[in-house]
This record gives sequence, C-alpha cells and structure tokens, in this order.
Amino acid sequence: MGAMSLHWASVIIIAPSLLAADFARLAEDLRRAEDAGADWHHVDVMDGHFVPNITIGPPVVAAIHEVVTKPLDVHLMIEDPWKYAPEFLDAGAAGVTFHIELEDRGDTRALLRDIRSRGARAGLAINPDGDVKRLAPYLDELDMVLVMSVFPGFGGQKFIPGVLEGVRALRTSFGFEGDIQMDGGIGPSTIEACAEAGCNVFVAGTAIYGAGDLAERIALLRGSAEKASARA
Ligand code: DX5
Ligand code: ZN
Repeated sequence: MGAMSLHWASVIIIAPSLLAADFARLAEDLRRAEDAGADWHHVDVMDGHFVPNITIGPPVVAAIHEVVTKPLDVHLMIEDPWKYAPEFLDAGAAGVTFHIELEDRGDTRALLRDIRSRGARAGLAINPDGDVKRLAPYLDELDMVLVMSVFPGFGGQKFIPGVLEGVRALRTSFGFEGDIQMDGGIGPSTIEACAEAGCNVFVAGTAIYGAGDLAERIALLRGSAEKASARA
C-alpha cells in the first residue's frame, strides 16, 4: 500500500445511483443492488431549478428507506437545501450532500452542522468547473466531498478527466482525510484513475444498473478501485 493511502479513508464504497434504476420497480432494483454487493444507495434529488431535471422528493426517500438495508446517500441538486435537508433526514437519509455553488444562498457551515447533529453524514459537492479551494473553509465540517465528474442533471454522461486534479489537491495540498466521492460517468474504464487520484467512494448509475450481471459489475469496480488505490 502506498504511503498516501494511509492518510485517507481507504475503504472503498460502491454506491449505485438510483437514477438508473427502474422507477416502477424501485424496491426490487435496490434489493437487487444490495444482493449484488452495493455498499450505499446514491439518491439523486433534482428540483428543476439548480439543474434542468426533476427526480424524487422526501416521500419517495421515506418509502425506499422502509425496504433497504444499506445507507441512503442523498445528493441534493436543489436550490434550497436549507429548507429541504431536514425533510430528507426525517425520511431516513444516512448522509446529505449539497452543492458549494449555493454557498452564498445560506449559512453553509450551519447546515453542515445541523446534518451532523442529526447523526447523519455531511457532504459538500462541487461541479466539474469548480475550484476545490472553495471547499477549504469547510473541510473540518465534512464527512465527504463529492466531486462531480459530469455537470449534474442527468445520468449516462461522459466522465470529465480534468476533475482528477482537484481530487489530488484535496488529498495533498489540503490534507483532506474524509471520503472523496466521484459521481458521473464512473465505470470500469474510469474508476481506476479516480481511485489513484484519491477517491474512495464511487457512484455509478448506468455502469451498474445497465449491466447484465450486477454482482459481477460491482465486484469488477471494487476490485479495480482497490488495486488502484493501493498503487496511489
Ligand atoms: C448526475 C447524478 C449522478 C448520475 C450518475 O447529475 O448526480 O449521480 O446519476 O449517473 P452515471 O453513472 O450514469 O453517470
Ligand atoms: Zn449524484
């Protein structure tokens, strides 16, 4: 194992994105992902304002919370996380991540603290064109940084390799030791570079739910990430 991996969360987490599941058979698909080895369920919440797409809200999260055994990792792509994060926590979110791009719309630090005070994990996400320096003042309030490797809004987009630089900076320049999650276009051909850069949590929608054999695909992703992070 490389020296750097001693300094960061080295447990690899594979989080299938519910966005690529069959919305008419959510319970069935989420259980299928759990049986196949998923660690978390990544739940993409979009409001049609922060991103040009609308997905699901707290009632759906509460309903799926009843049928899953793995943590619900809720990624809020909404304009007002201050208003709605509490509802997602009530619905059973194990972690709530919102976007640094909204920093000036409310008290970011206060919301991160509220999420943690509810016993949940707090995360901040950054878009692919964002500068990770913006996250620096909040790093000690964060369980996780989510680095978007596509512009948020839709599944099935192409991975943007330029974001790896920000991941490396978080680990080396800023010494961030929490989880770093990569989200967007993650699959067998992109996961290794992310793990080598310092990511340990991987969201994959299309690459997991679109695979014929979910267990085989999750094992392949996990194996590749483990090997690459050991090389880092
Ligand atoms: C994009 C979402 C992602 C997306 C990933 O706005 O945040 O979680 O579902 O989907 P894939 O893995 O298909 O790129
Ligand atoms: Zn997401």
